[in-house]
Amino acid sequence: MARLKTLQLTQFRNLHQAWLSLAPGLNVIIGDNAAGKTSVIEALWVMASGRSFRTTKPQQLIEINHTDMTLYCEVEQDAHTHKLGLQRTTNGLELRLDGQNLKNQSELARHLPIQLLTPESHRLLEEGPKARRQFLDWGCFYHHPSFIQAWRHYQRALKQRNHSLKKQLPSAQTRLWDAQLIETSEQINHLRAEYLSALTPYLTDFIQHLMPELDSQIDVRFYPGWPANQASYATCLDEHYVRDVQLGHTQYGCHRSDIKFRIQQQEPLVSLSRGQQKLFVCALLLAQAQYLQKQTQNSVVMLIDDLPAELDSQHRNTLMSLLQSLNIQHLVTTTAADLIPILNPENTAFFEIQQGKIQAI
Ligand SMILES: Nc1ncnc2c1ncn2[C@@H]1O[C@H](COP(=O)(O)OP(=O)(O)OP(=O)(O)O)[C@@H](O)[C@H]1O
Ligand SMILES: [Mg+2]
Repeated sequence: MARLKTLQLTQFRNLHQAWLSLAPGLNVIIGDNAAGKTSVIEALWVMASGRSFRTTKPQQLIEINHTDMTLYCEVEQDAHTHKLGLQRTTNGLELRLDGQNLKNQSELARHLPIQLLTPESHRLLEEGPKARRQFLDWGCFYHHPSFIQAWRHYQRALKQRNHSLKKQLPSAQTRLWDAQLIETSEQINHLRAEYLSALTPYLTDFIQHLMPELDSQIDVRFYPGWPANQASYATCLDEHYVRDVQLGHTQYGCHRSDIKFRIQQQEPLVSLSRGQQKLFVCALLLAQAQYLQKQTQNSVVMLIDDLPAELDSQHRNTLMSLLQSLNIQHLVTTTAADLIPILNPENTAFFEIQQGKIQAI
């Protein structure tokens, strides 16, 4: 069980100093436009993933006219309270867990399984496969401790192979990396495919809850990242080597994997309204959360930025009651308190945010 107990932000975006003591259930963050609501959500995402969902420039996360920012939180997990810290200064990034310096962001992520729903979340369906791979890899990371290592080895081999292709180095040198690509690709895709098929029944269930109007089954398929007519990835690398040389990069591999969804025999983008696409993404995240809980007893913290912009009032109610029945801690931002259904007041905390200043109410 991961539960966020406190969160402290220093010089993060427009939040000069903020401290929140969080409820184990729902946490509502209320504020006008530009008050700093998304910044709170973003801070937690940065803590868990090392990246922002709004910018690729870490400098933008630091309060204007300051040189550093610090994030600190306490997470209760298996009767321990872990202290997670992240500081960005002019010297770079420092990560800390329980007073020790860390080398890898993944160790912070391990202690803070976070999911995120923002008004841009439907991009998971709309944009290229990268977001869907990240979705799968999130699950593989929390379910299989060996996944991250295979993933890192694959990335390194791919980078080296692409470098050789680009520099047009001798074939023997370039193809030295094939064995590692093949081995790690198989491990990665095996875990991804297995994860996706285990997740599918949960997904079907949540789609039924959130969109009972859709009566047909959904079809979920894993695409490995190379053409289906290839006997194996090794054959694929052989057959496409000449073309890889011409292009200067490796065309196929698990860096191209994807998920193909079909609902009513069509792609979700065709068969679902924009609101339904958002509900579909909600169902994907809830499925991940519930499967994680069932398999590992670990629980996620769900961040929902601007919930009223996401869903109408009936679906807000359904989502809130699902989160509550799953016993998932959630942080929800809104411009008005009355837009959020409060189903269990004892388990709820309210925060008001005004021009970067947060207080519990
Ligand atoms: N590095 C920074 N330093 C100081 N202020 C910043 C920085 N980056 C962004 N801001 C400002 O912080 C304010 C809060 O932005 P944020 O997106 O968190 O607001 P919000 O409450 O989510 O608003 P909305 O309801 O419009 O989504 C904005 O006015 C933004 O210009
Ligand atoms: Mg916002």
